[in-house]
Amino acid sequence: MTLKTEDLLKVIHSAGVQAAADTGNEPEPELTQPISWPITSTVGPGLEGAIACESKVGYVNGAKGWLVYRGYDIFELCANATYEEVCYLLLHGELPTEAQLYAFKKKLASYRYVNGTLRVLMGFPVEKMNPMAALRLGTNLLRQEFSFIDIDIPGDDMGFDEIIAMDDDSFAMETPPLGEKQATYEFHQQSRASHPRWGDQLHDAKGYEAAYHLIAGIPTLAAAISRVRQGHMPIEPDPHLSLSANFLYMLTGYQPSELEERMMDVCLILHADHGMNASTFAAMVVASTLSDVYFSVGSGIAALNGPLHGGANEQVLKMLEEIRSFGDVQEWLDERLMNKEKVMGFGHRVYKAYDPRARVLGPLAELLTENHEDGKSLLSIAKRLESEMIDRFGESKKIFPNVDFYSGIVYNCLGIPADMFTSVFAVARVSGWTARVLEYLKNNRIFRPRAIYTGDFGKTYTPIEQRQRRDTIQ
Ligand SMILES: CC(C)(COP(=O)(O)OP(=O)(O)OC[C@H]1O[C@@H](n2cnc3c(N)ncnc32)[C@H](O)[C@@H]1OP(=O)(O)O)[C@@H](O)C(=O)NCCC(=O)NCCS
Repeated sequence: MTLKTEDLLKVIHSAGVQAAADTGNEPEPELTQPISWPITSTVGPGLEGAIACESKVGYVNGAKGWLVYRGYDIFELCANATYEEVCYLLLHGELPTEAQLYAFKKKLASYRYVNGTLRVLMGFPVEKMNPMAALRLGTNLLRQEFSFIDIDIPGDDMGFDEIIAMDDDSFAMETPPLGEKQATYEFHQQSRASHPRWGDQLHDAKGYEAAYHLIAGIPTLAAAISRVRQGHMPIEPDPHLSLSANFLYMLTGYQPSELEERMMDVCLILHADHGMNASTFAAMVVASTLSDVYFSVGSGIAALNGPLHGGANEQVLKMLEEIRSFGDVQEWLDERLMNKEKVMGFGHRVYKAYDPRARVLGPLAELLTENHEDGKSLLSIAKRLESEMIDRFGESKKIFPNVDFYSGIVYNCLGIPADMFTSVFAVARVSGWTARVLEYLKNNRIFRPRAIYTGDFGKTYTPIEQRQRRDTIQ
């Protein structure tokens, strides 16, 4: 059967209808009103339940399984919007007009070229690094284009020795050879003139421009890292393609079909934002110190890497493959639970209902695997596992599939290597991280929760030779 984008639309539409029927449409009034600070809230360990700020970026209702970006239900956006529109919406609060979208896309397309950053990044053994570690490193290197001068240099003195700029590849060769110092000076004068974005407000890398740069540049970095890990050369971005199509093209080396492009778009939209999750919070904590957007996003990437957060999608695929070679879903599950191990792709800190993103990704996986034998067999295992897990824990512990359960199967069918799944998540989440960071900075207050000290008091210092021998480090 030849799949069309209309089939995708139907799937999203019916997932939305089902979600609406299952969950109702009343938001929680007590959690959707402006706050008069200070407030009282019940806080669990790990800041569970703590309210740290107000936000208009997105809303997650865990009890019902709702996800809303700037007032739009996620199903509405998946069915109608492109990822670029959603990025604009998250950052600026409204869907763009035609002219705004045109300008935004043009800007993003130009920021796909991060040649200088790639040149430096590839000096590291990227092929041997954890892809998320390489992506984080690349993000920090990307910072140097905007944070052009890292040391305050008074007046017009360019301080040649301290200048660090990654994305300038070409020195002005027409300059007569007047000596290295003079040539470098002229080059930088020229760069300054031709890059108005290196104006005052962008030296600090806090602006929206930095967000655009990250949203567009990180896919190029992730794709290049993936290619090099597979022993290939990175692929040059194609400015004529959408962000999703170009990302898939740079990752796989072939131009995706319209349907594949749309699938990627839907995946990026679904992963774009999700409340105060661990990586968003990490990014916001860094921003709240008045560090900058690049450092914030770098911290988001670091937090996302963990297996309890974004790292779960890769683990899910491994787990499904393990079950396939084991042979029996029930027996595998019994053994896993007996060993007190979690089943990856299930459960959520916030959702105590079916994750709305999994409502879309499940049927999407079904569509994609129709023409994909390996995917089809993994999907049938996934469905059996889902029904076992819901039978055992749906009612009692409110455990359902989360966003990571089906995304791996979808990415697998789109030709994305499993070790890049978490990086794909990061590519999508840059829009949410930057939107929330920039929103928070408008009313910034440095994050500073407390820990309850449960240690001792009143101890006196014992000289080292009088301390009792201990064989282990405590
Ligand atoms: C996401 C996650 C960290 C949420 O954690 P949480 O809400 O704090 O839930 P807890 O870890 O406290 O678990 C609550 C109970 O449900 C059980 N549980 C939660 N997730 C489970 C899972 N995936 N498999 C089996 N049991 C699970 C716990 O064992 C615990 O049982 P207990 O009360 O008998 O001790 C957790 O569900 C998990 O580790 N899931 C697997 C990793 C994953 O898919 N992460 C991606 C998240 S998008």
